[in-house]
Parts: sequence; structure tokens; C-alpha cells
Amino acid sequence: MRAVTETDLPEIVRVDKEAFPAAPYPFFVVRQFFDAFREHMFVLEDGDGELRGYVMSTGTDDAESWILSLAVTAEMRRQGWGRQLMTEVLSHLRGRGAHTVVLSVEPDNATAVALYDSLGFTPSPGGPVRDYFGPGEHRLLMTLAL
Ligand SMILES: CC(C)(COP(=O)(O)OP(=O)(O)OC[C@H]1O[C@@H](n2cnc3c(N)ncnc32)[C@H](O)[C@@H]1OP(=O)(O)O)[C@@H](O)C(=O)NCCC(=O)NCCS
Repeated sequence: MRAVTETDLPEIVRVDKEAFPAAPYPFFVVRQFFDAFREHMFVLEDGDGELRGYVMSTGTDDAESWILSLAVTAEMRRQGWGRQLMTEVLSHLRGRGAHTVVLSVEPDNATAVALYDSLGFTPSPGGPVRDYFGPGEHRLLMTLAL
């Protein structure tokens, strides 16, 4: 696991496309996240220099920090890497003085919900927010007090 560099951007787009085939972040969005939040982005690289996962969050200037994305490539899943990426970014945010971390997750994404739950995130009381990302795209908001 290491800090992101500009040359990782096309690879992050590739990993994101694989993890979120229905609505991946386009290159320009990843580029803008990099410009705005690069110090809060971490990537997972295998021994051959290939990108296998990434996590990114917003900064810590506001009351809340948001996890913007988390992904691990299919062949690397269930080996603890998703948890390590989350632990890394949460520890980083804690070190920067963040108090609250929020994320949105697709309510049927049992794997991700279980991971966030095990890290101490709690779902917002009202349940999934309807149409959060547009018509039919409901999302569960989960919050962690650091
Ligand atoms: C979510 C994701 C990042 C998890 O990555 P991972 O490396 O497989 O996760 P880990 O191996 O660290 O597992 C962490 C926890 O997730 C949960 N989990 C992982 N795989 C699971 C599965 N198949 N079923 C249920 N829970 C699962 C467990 O709670 C697990 O903890 P445990 O191993 O102590 O039981 C990965 O599945 C992924 O990239 N999915 C597609 C993109 C995505 O959904 N991202 C999150 C969007 S909000």
C-alpha cells in the first residue's frame, strides 16, 4: 500500500471500472479528486507494479470527512486488503484531526456494509436514502466517530 501518484490515475480508472461497471468514475473525476484530495488517496500495488485497489477520502477541514471510494480487484478480495485500505485512510484522517467520517454504500452491497459495520460505522437511522444518487439509486449513509 502506498500514497497515490499522478501516473496511477489511468490505473485507478481501470480498477474503478472493474469494481463499479454500472457507473465508474470517468477519468476527469478521478483527475479532479487527485488534484483536490491526493494526500488522502492510497493505492494497493502488487509485486509487479500493477494496481489492485485504492481508497480515497475528502480532506479534514470540514466537520465531516467523506470516503469517496474503495475498491479491490476481484482476484485480491477476501484477503484483508479492503480492510487494510480502510484502516490506512481512517488512521490517516484521525491523525489529521478528523472527527467524523461518512460514506455512502449501495444497501444491497452486503460485503461492503459488513466491512464498514465491523470498522464501527453505523447506518443513518432512517435507513437508505431514496434516490440519493438519482432515480432508483438509493444509498445507505454510514458514519464513524473517530
Ligand atoms: C468491498 C471490498 C473493497 C472489500 O474488499 P476485500 O479486500 O475483499 O475485503 P476484506 O478481505 O478486507 O474483508 C473485509 C470484510 O469485508 C467483509 N467481507 C468481505 N468479503 C465478503 C463477502 N464475500 N461476504 C460477506 N462479507 C464480506 C467481511 O466483514 C470482511 O471481514 P472478515 O474477513 O474479518 O470477515 C471489495 O469487495 C470490492 O472492491 N468490492 C467492489 C467495490 C465496492 O463495492 N466497494 C465499496 C463501495 S461502498
